[in-house]
Amino acid sequence: MVWYDWFSNIYDSSLEKLYAEHRVLAANALQLDKGSVVLDLPCGTGQSFDEIRNRVGEEGHLVGIDLSKGMLRRAQERAQKNAWQNVTCLQKDAALVTQKDVHEAAGKAISVDRLHIFLGMSVFPDMESTFTNLWNLLPAGGQCVIVDVHTEKLNFQGWMVNKIAGADIRRRFWEPLEKVADRFERTDLPFHKQHGGQIMMAYGIKK
Ligand SMILES: C[S@@+](CC[C@H](N)C(=O)[O-])C[C@H]1O[C@@H](n2cnc3c(N)ncnc32)[C@H](O)[C@@H]1O
Repeated sequence: MVWYDWFSNIYDSSLEKLYAEHRVLAANALQLDKGSVVLDLPCGTGQSFDEIRNRVGEEGHLVGIDLSKGMLRRAQERAQKNAWQNVTCLQKDAALVTQKDVHEAAGKAISVDRLHIFLGMSVFPDMESTFTNLWNLLPAGGQCVIVDVHTEKLNFQGWMVNKIAGADIRRRFWEPLEKVADRFERTDLPFHKQHGGQIMMAYGIKK
C-alpha cells in the first residue's frame, strides 16, 4: 500500500469534490436509521464518514476499514476532529476481515447491518472473494451498497484512472452482489468525465 500511503497526502484535495454527490446517494440508498451499524470499506481517508455518521447518529456505529496506513490515518484524524466516539477504524485487508476484527475495531460486540463499499471493487486484488468475505459478515436482512466506475472499453481518462487508483474499471463490479442479493438494483449516477467511465450504484438485501 505504499502508493496509497503517499496518495493520502493529496487524496482529499484532489478528489473530495468529485464524488461528494455520489456519497450522499449511497448513504441514502442504505436507508440508514439512528442506531444502524455500518461497515465502510475501503474507507480511505473517510470521505463517506460525514454522510454515514449524520444518519446513524450517536446511537449507531461506523467501522472504517482500509489496508493503507496513510489513508487510515487521515480517516482517524477526521473522526477525531469531529469528536465522533462511535466512528472507529481498522487497518486490514478487506478480503481477510473477520467478525472478531469488527468487534475489536468497535471496542464491543456489534452486529453489522449495512455494508458500504465505495470505490473498492475496482481496486481489491480479488474482487469476488473479497466481496464474499464481506457479504458473509452481513446477517439476513442486511443491506449493501456498492458504488464504483465501469467502462467496457478504456479511453485515455479511464486508463489514467486505472493507473492512478491502481484500479481496473473494466470489472463488472456489481455482479457478485447481483448473484446473491434480494431486491437487486443497479443505477447510473451523475457522470463526470474525470471518473473515466460511468459511475454506478448497486444495491441489494441479504436473503
Ligand atoms: C480509490 S480509493 C477509495 C477510498 C474510499 N472508499 C473513497 O471513496 O474515497 C481505494 C482504497 O482501497 C484501499 N484498498 C486497496 N486494496 C485494499 C484491500 N485489499 N483491503 C482494504 N483496502 C484496500 C486503498 O488503500 C484505498 O484507500
